[in-house]
Amino acid sequence: TDFGQGAASGKIILMGEHSVVYGKPAIALPFNQAQITSKIYKTDKEITIDCIYHQGELNTAPDNLYGIKQLINIVLIYLKQPFFGIHIKIESNLPSQRGLGSSAAVSIAVVRSLFDAFQVNLTQETLNHFVEIAEQIHHVNPSGLDATTIAFGKAVFYQKDIGKSVIPLRMDAILVVADTGVKGLTKEAVSDVKKLWKSNPNIINPIMDRLEELTNNVKVFLENNEVVRLGLAMTEAHQLLRSIDVSDDKLEELVDVALKSGALGAKLTGGGKGGCMIALATNMEQAILIADSLKQSGAAHTWFYDLKEIIT
Ligand code: MEV
Repeated sequence: TDFGQGAASGKIILMGEHSVVYGKPAIALPFNQAQITSKIYKTDKEITIDCIYHQGELNTAPDNLYGIKQLINIVLIYLKQPFFGIHIKIESNLPSQRGLGSSAAVSIAVVRSLFDAFQVNLTQETLNHFVEIAEQIHHVNPSGLDATTIAFGKAVFYQKDIGKSVIPLRMDAILVVADTGVKGLTKEAVSDVKKLWKSNPNIINPIMDRLEELTNNVKVFLENNEVVRLGLAMTEAHQLLRSIDVSDDKLEELVDVALKSGALGAKLTGGGKGGCMIALATNMEQAILIADSLKQSGAAHTWFYDLKEIIT
């Protein structure tokens, strides 16, 4: 039996992906429909791990587990435990590389499970600290939006180096979340945007400014239950994101299909270049129709997200 457990949900970015990297605000929601769990078992061997990418010794894990390996190492040092004698089992129904925050979520689940195993109280600050280290290794220069939203587990208005505030969700609307089935390339997308920004600041800066304006507006729309305006802001944000080249054919197709099926707005969510999109529906009946059309157009998976849920 395990002697330590931890879990974490994913996240959905409602507004502000990419612009958040440039110091603009973003709004993200915890995605509780899918979870990652981590369980710790005692052994008398080198550390082993069981996850989709690797089963066996952590030391021989592939490169994409480098961040998690470093994270486990520093957490064990912090907990004054040897790098030995545990087996870590990670399970997930949160698809990875889809802009749903699986890399931050796996880090958070692992940190929680290790602290639980060695019965050390884990504060929000300590959790954030460790997860940001893992995210740095994994993503080079993350804004911290994923780590904050998932560690906190609430809808947040977030700005890099400034902080977060909680946004109460009380809108009469449903988000349809659809996975294109195409692996998202967040790291590439972020570095491509950086190249564009360096070579054409006069074009990119106004786009970032407009994304900032839209995010600030959306905060007010959420507070005032202005569903139609939220939809329009989402679609405009998508067009701006497309103009900085972080969309792709499948995202374009699904955004188009959602709008033609009656969605009030639709956009990519997360890093883009694959990954997921979101569409806004006025009620569940319409959300189901939109989700059906998205699936017919090849969405690998769809979920519903009630914007009225007060998530705690
Ligand atoms: C990734 O979930 C969101 C991006 O804005 C990158 C970041 O915030 O670090 C694309």
